[in-house]
Amino acid sequence: MDQGATRTVTAIIDALADDGCYVGDSILSETLTHALANRLTALINANVLQAAKIGRASGAQRQSKVRSDATHWLDDAPTDPTERSAVSAINALRIELNQALCLGATHSELHYAHCPAGASYSVHRDRFGDDDARLVSLVFYLNESWRLSAGGELMIYNDAMQPLHRVTPQAGTMVAFLSERFPHEVLPATTSRLSLTGWLRQGKL
Ligand code: OGA
Ligand code: MN
Repeated sequence: MDQGATRTVTAIIDALADDGCYVGDSILSETLTHALANRLTALINANVLQAAKIGRASGAQRQSKVRSDATHWLDDAPTDPTERSAVSAINALRIELNQALCLGATHSELHYAHCPAGASYSVHRDRFGDDDARLVSLVFYLNESWRLSAGGELMIYNDAMQPLHRVTPQAGTMVAFLSERFPHEVLPATTSRLSLTGWLRQGKL
């Protein structure tokens, strides 16, 4: 890791320890972020993404009122070199957070997300009712020149639904928060919104 990345990891550790939530510079380099944006754009054009579902496995349902984005899961050991770099950077972060915070995250899961113009994702938490596997939620934004007027912010709330953060989905920004703690939502955007979302998890794969 270079100096900038080391400083970013320290800032993430401090913010998670103090507030449970980090919004700031990404651990992924500008070059890698750009390559991920290109890769996601190619996957969208090849029609690989699927309408996002709420919940898991057999209980999963498509509910476009709650969530109208499309997603595509990355392999744990991707063959694509760009995805390999992203997975290894996120695993390096997982190990740093385990050491500094005794987090106990054993693995990660990652998906691309594409919100077409008008799509949104209403207020939710990232833990499923019956499943405590997700420890930390991560979001990496991939749009390079996001216009403020395009909307699409991530709103993060406290338990009383007071807004804590309003995050512009601009490439170079990342978010990390304790998955069980924060209700959050994605506001509708007027243009296509690209991100890579992941979770550091405990328990078995
Ligand atoms: C999610 C999510 C936030 C974002 O995928 O669960 O809340 O800003 N994403 O894309
Ligand atoms: Mn979420």
